[in-house]
Amino acid sequence: PPLDEILNLHDFENIAKQVLPEKAWAYYSSAADDEITHRENHAAYHRIWFRPRILRDVTKVDWSTTILGQKSSMPVYISATALGKLGHPDGEINLTRAAAKQGVIQMIPTLASCSFDEIVDAAQPGQVQFFQLYVNRDRAITKKLVQHAESRGVKGLFITVDAPQLGRREKDMRMKFEDADPSVVSSSGSQGVDRSQGAARAISSFIDTALKWDDLKWFKSITKMPLILKGVQCWEDALQAYDFGVAGVVLSNHGGRQLDFARSGIEVLVEVVANLKEKRGLEFPNDKFQLFVDGGVRRATDVIKAVALGATAVGVGRPFLYAFSAYGSEGVEKALQILHDEFEMNMRLLGAPTLKDIVPAMVDASNLQSH
Ligand code: FNR
Repeated sequence: PPLDEILNLHDFENIAKQVLPEKAWAYYSSAADDEITHRENHAAYHRIWFRPRILRDVTKVDWSTTILGQKSSMPVYISATALGKLGHPDGEINLTRAAAKQGVIQMIPTLASCSFDEIVDAAQPGQVQFFQLYVNRDRAITKKLVQHAESRGVKGLFITVDAPQLGRREKDMRMKFEDADPSVVSSSGSQGVDRSQGAARAISSFIDTALKWDDLKWFKSITKMPLILKGVQCWEDALQAYDFGVAGVVLSNHGGRQLDFARSGIEVLVEVVANLKEKRGLEFPNDKFQLFVDGGVRRATDVIKAVALGATAVGVGRPFLYAFSAYGSEGVEKALQILHDEFEMNMRLLGAPTLKDIVPAMVDASNLQSH
């Protein structure tokens, strides 16, 4: 269907399923084991209800914000997703172009199909990009990647901490990666590829399983970029991250692709905010230690719920992959435009002219926690 018939982010998924080669669909859409966490990620938002306010001037509404000190047109960023060329020949550059047009931040994955420099070169002057790091057990390689990213102007380093081993994505494992086009994987981060068991396992064999808290000191010694841990799943680790002096955490289960039965990021957010307030006196959102959430975000209402509960911004993964798979960068632009339009309407209907007006009392999250 033509792009103007696309009404919401779910539509891109249905179309991508029809147009993508079977292998690409398997890699993009799959999640761990029985995909319970994957389904829960979106379902959790269905347990949160709004408490809108009335009779406030909502002629002008403004949902722009700053993420790690960088301007963003909305409290949404494009999360890192590997292997963009499985879906479209321009791969991750589709995301770079659309991010520029819509004023949002792109997180570049270690396992991009395009090379890191191609993605940075595709950015407009002043366009902000973050970098997602899979830590290679060869620290010399990691150091080179990190320092190169910093030298190219990347504004935040998101270290993925939920993937010492890649989860079992069985849909993907049924596909052999060996006859896939080798150009789909850039050589930047991966080395020693085992091609026998699906795309995910093939590209991840270099990841350091020995990574630990103490290593954060080493990261701080090699870069001045803000460090963010991507894949925190309970308040204890969020507190420890804060005490280690990192700039923030992403409450994420990797889109349900790692540990099945991990809780949704939005549910974890509630306990993180409560415990960091109680134990460290922190209020959220907060510029010194920012909380991000990802997984299952498909509507501006989902984003607004996360913001109300204390998140600075949320990450979105699959919908943008599906959008460029079907329509290239214009698809991603359209996806962002849909979110933009949804923000405008929903903030009006909530009686919230700015993000600051989206306070915890605007949501009823009492059904959120499963216990
Ligand atoms: C991912 N994600 C991911 N995360 C990461 O840190 N490094 C990576 O290489 C990838 N690769 C990747 C590939 C694909 C196909 C998907 C779907 C996801 C996880 C991603 O950053 C994010 O956490 C989730 O995608 C968020 O969930 P949704 O928005 O896809 O539901």
